[in-house]
Amino acid sequence: MPDSTYDLVVIGAGPGGYVAAIRAAQLGLRTALVEKDASLGGTCLNVGCIPSKALLTSTELYHTLASQGALHGIKAGKISADIPALMKRKADVVSKLTGGVKILLDKRGVTIVQGLGKLGPGGKSVDVTRADGSTQKLETKNILIATGSIPVELPFMKFDGKLVVSSDQAIAFEEVPAKLVVIGAGAIGLELGSVWARLGSEVTVVELLPRVAATFDEDVSRIAQRVFQKQGMKFELGAKVTGLKMDGGKGVLSAERDGKVLEFPADKILVAVGRKPTTAGLGAAEAGLTLDKGGRIVVDAHFRSNLPNVYAIGDVIAGPMLAHKAEEEGVACAEMLAGKAGHVNYHTIPAVVYTEPEIASVGLGETEAKAKGIAVKVGKFNMAANGRALSAAATDGFVKIIADPKTDRLLGAQIIAHNASEMIAAITPHLEYGGSAEDVARTVTSHPTLAEAIKEAAMAVDGWSIHSV
Ligand code: NAI
Repeated sequence: MPDSTYDLVVIGAGPGGYVAAIRAAQLGLRTALVEKDASLGGTCLNVGCIPSKALLTSTELYHTLASQGALHGIKAGKISADIPALMKRKADVVSKLTGGVKILLDKRGVTIVQGLGKLGPGGKSVDVTRADGSTQKLETKNILIATGSIPVELPFMKFDGKLVVSSDQAIAFEEVPAKLVVIGAGAIGLELGSVWARLGSEVTVVELLPRVAATFDEDVSRIAQRVFQKQGMKFELGAKVTGLKMDGGKGVLSAERDGKVLEFPADKILVAVGRKPTTAGLGAAEAGLTLDKGGRIVVDAHFRSNLPNVYAIGDVIAGPMLAHKAEEEGVACAEMLAGKAGHVNYHTIPAVVYTEPEIASVGLGETEAKAKGIAVKVGKFNMAANGRALSAAATDGFVKIIADPKTDRLLGAQIIAHNASEMIAAITPHLEYGGSAEDVARTVTSHPTLAEAIKEAAMAVDGWSIHSV
């Protein structure tokens, strides 16, 4: 006899899975959530978005005080960083949030089952194996797989958790590495590179492509590189990592550029070259679940896999590996299962890199438009001409608005600025409702705010920015 029967069993309690479980329970579905780890929240809450942001905030405060205290007339004497205390604050933030998720799930009546979930025969059950080896079968009408992703390893440089690390360990170094080599100038490389550079590490970022933050526009990459270099990070672009050898207890990373061999001594090497979907332990092959070449679960527009009543969302399916994308999919999938019309607008998913300045984008970029031969008109406004940015000593960067040259319809935006993560949220609704650049330009915006740069960039689309020439 099965232990229980559910309308929905969700496997994986990251932002995709736990949000889907809560939405399903809100809509009256009898829901269980299976999670292999003791702590809920998945990568994002435990070792990703949240702990990295805690470290970014602490180290930005430290760096600002150390480098700009005198500018603001603050005499703090010689300041120093207490790494164990900094890590404890990070851990406290994580445990508060993961505990909060448990409370939310309990209040909504979601059954939390701790253990590794495996697809049962015919997609009608989930077999859970607990840490002590005991098992439980959950009978269910539907299964939602939200098992997320793990860091990609370089084949010749396996993670050892000591010298060669992933982001999981780079948020938890016990001391500041003298020399940190970061492979990959994407979101993780730039964020964690910033954390340790601010704390005094000599950080070198080795990147295959010719520019940093390469998913954003070219002019964003240029400013980002210039500013991060000023902050002390070194970049080796267009360099392909080829190997690692040991020399006197230290690692020496080798890379190749234009036929030349480059060598980088390192106390720690952070490999941040992307993430890959997690399907290990799911029993995907036995169940006959179809995966694509990248190991992602193949789903249709309704998140349906090839197996009846088995659905998947988040990092384990195609699309950007972002917590908010997974959350939207979780809500949409739960709503569809409850007989409603769930929907995700994939054109309005913002992306953010939480460096200082932050980098944010939504919709179509100018570089992408050029590559695809799409005609666009563009308006740009430099933060240096924004009063709030000047008063905050945060004048690096710009806002760019991208619109259709014929209809003026807003197509996208790119921002590199202090607080860009919050600013992009003022643009996304215009995109969602099909607004025009003029709608953005005529939106009343408090003065003085950084967000005024958005309005000015939108005005600049048609050449009438008031505060720039
Ligand atoms: P990424 O895909 O953002 O960047 C990886 C970078 O590594 C790329 O620039 C790529 O060209 C480079 N690269 C790949 N192979 C290389 C090699 N052999 N040598 C040198 N460079 C190489 O991946 P990342 O930063 O690891 O992040 C993983 C995922 O997590 C991404 O989907 C990212 O969007 C997401 N994430 C999002 C964050 C956010 O929203 N703030 C923060 C952290 C991660």
